[in-house]
Amino acid sequence: MKRVTAFVGSARKKHTYNTTRQFLDNLQSLGDVEYEIVTLSDHRLGTCKGCQLCFDKGEEFCPLKDDRDVLIEKIRASDGVVLASPNYSFQVSAIIKIFLDRLGFVFHRPHFFGKTFTSIVVQGIYGGNKIVRYLDFVGNGLGFNTVKGSCVTALQPMTEKEKQKIDKVLARQSRRFYERLVKPAYPVPTLFGLMAFRMARTSIRLELDENTRDYVYYKDKGWFESEYFYPTRLGALKKAAGRLFDSIQTKRTRSRHS
Ligand SMILES: Cc1cc2nc3c(=O)[nH]c(=O)nc-3n(C[C@H](O)[C@H](O)[C@H](O)COP(=O)(O)O)c2cc1C
Repeated sequence: MKRVTAFVGSARKKHTYNTTRQFLDNLQSLGDVEYEIVTLSDHRLGTCKGCQLCFDKGEEFCPLKDDRDVLIEKIRASDGVVLASPNYSFQVSAIIKIFLDRLGFVFHRPHFFGKTFTSIVVQGIYGGNKIVRYLDFVGNGLGFNTVKGSCVTALQPMTEKEKQKIDKVLARQSRRFYERLVKPAYPVPTLFGLMAFRMARTSIRLELDENTRDYVYYKDKGWFESEYFYPTRLGALKKAAGRLFDSIQTKRTRSRHS
């Protein structure tokens, strides 16, 4: 049994909600999946004040008292996560952005490894594909194993042809997502993923110290010595590339301080 949680960033239960539900129903028709749809606007989420206490000292020092941890617990309990947003003014809706800002510390200390992620964007006319790329980038940054998201156009009234197009896009995305969900959850990193890890960890090792949460987190996880966030088999080329990324970042950091 695989558990999937979808976070929906539209306050009304209309196109974004229905599209997400169709995607999740498709998953259920492919295998043993249970799901929950979380409408973010039904939860209390404060607007980040920018104090950065979560980065420096730890997320438990955040002055906002809202439902952040309830929502994080839902992610922790899931094998798969969907972020679904309407296109508002060529970007995600405000509640999605507020939610992502509340997860800001996770970009510093990624921890959703082994969980499959995808995005769904619903638009009236134009601009959604860029938002999908943004959300997929964000998914990777949070540590998820990301399956390319989809943008669907739900302009009313909808013709039969338009409806069929949405069905096709969602059927394809659900298949890809399901296949990833049931595969081994810890894939070999892409070159970009490897670069992001090696440069971040080198920078944290050289720039920070035991007084910061990021440093302690990386140290406790063994990430200053490991090849990647989790055990993986890098080929000779990626091993060499990893060493190169470490050394480039070392030089960059030293030149900042010279
Ligand atoms: C404030 C606002 C801004 C919007 N901006 C865009 C936009 O930039 N591009 C677009 O294609 N659709 C835009 N739309 C249309 C919505 O993306 C579209 O109606 C979508 O289906 C809404 O999702 P919902 O039915 O789940 O509420 C906007 C809608 C609203 C309410």
